[in-house]
Amino acid sequence: MILVTGATGNVGREVVQALARAGEPVRALVRRPADLPAEQAVGDLDRPESLAPALDGVRGVFLLPGYRDMPGLLTRMRESGVERVVLLSSLATVATDTDNVLSAYMIGSETAVRESGLAWTFLRPNAFMSNALRWLPQLRAGDVVRDSFGTVPVASVDPYDIAGVAVRALLDPGHEGRVYPLSGPEPLLPARRLAVLADVLGRDLRFHDLSDEEGRADMAAAGVPEPYIRAFFGFYGDGTLDESQVYPTVERVTGAPPRTFHQWATAHRASFT
Ligand SMILES: NC(=O)c1ccc[n+]([C@@H]2O[C@H](COP(=O)([O-])OP(=O)(O)OC[C@H]3O[C@@H](n4cnc5c(N)ncnc54)[C@H](OP(=O)(O)O)[C@@H]3O)[C@@H](O)[C@H]2O)c1
Repeated sequence: MILVTGATGNVGREVVQALARAGEPVRALVRRPADLPAEQAVGDLDRPESLAPALDGVRGVFLLPGYRDMPGLLTRMRESGVERVVLLSSLATVATDTDNVLSAYMIGSETAVRESGLAWTFLRPNAFMSNALRWLPQLRAGDVVRDSFGTVPVASVDPYDIAGVAVRALLDPGHEGRVYPLSGPEPLLPARRLAVLADVLGRDLRFHDLSDEEGRADMAAAGVPEPYIRAFFGFYGDGTLDESQVYPTVERVTGAPPRTFHQWATAHRASFT
């Protein structure tokens, strides 16, 4: 039995679907019952003691990072019989300013998994294609999308492909102790991603690149805590994180090339209409 955490989220939902399609026994960890094609167990990753029913009979876990007590969580998993963990980490772990809060959060989770005594695989994706869903409120209000980092190319990755790699690492031998950087097939500027979305939606959309001051103010107004704002501006403003690189990992592990942003936008068209 595989337990999938974050099962209602962008990546976890794809992992649940991929395991269900493959006919593998899969259980989705949820905080409240959801519409998913799998058995569900209710639990909270910030309260390891709530996970006993979810962990019953589980051998492999797809794990998201950053919960309150990662070492305690992993000890509980090991003691209940879990053997293997695939951790969704981030390329932020190799940014040059690893003391920034987002890198620290990922590095802390990787360290806890390394020290857990469980077999592990780390997935270190670039930014997700699904981050374009953050444009939804602006796209409902009009045809202009205002966003930061307009000159930063990112080879963003489809959660579908992250899930494809996760499933192979959960089910097949040979992935233990491996660290997988994951990207999509090409680096794109945000304006280019918006142009692809415009094409798929049949709309005339325009990108407005925010100044740093505007970008910081927008994030603060959206409730992003100041250390996170500093972290994003460190990565993409100061350039301490390079997400423009394309990696061969998705195709090597899954046998299929990574999906394009056009494919992601087409698959998620309904979310934008
Ligand atoms: N976005 C990016 O570009 C990017 C890049 C690299 C890495 N990452 C990392 O990837 C991870 C997953 O991203 P995503 O987009 O799939 O996430 P998401 O769509 O925001 O979903 C988060 C999931 O975690 C669940 N969750 C949150 N707190 C929980 C708790 N205490 N106990 C149990 N479940 C809990 C949520 O469940 P509910 O339905 O109950 O809320 C939801 O299923 C994030 O941790 C992020 O740091 C993101």
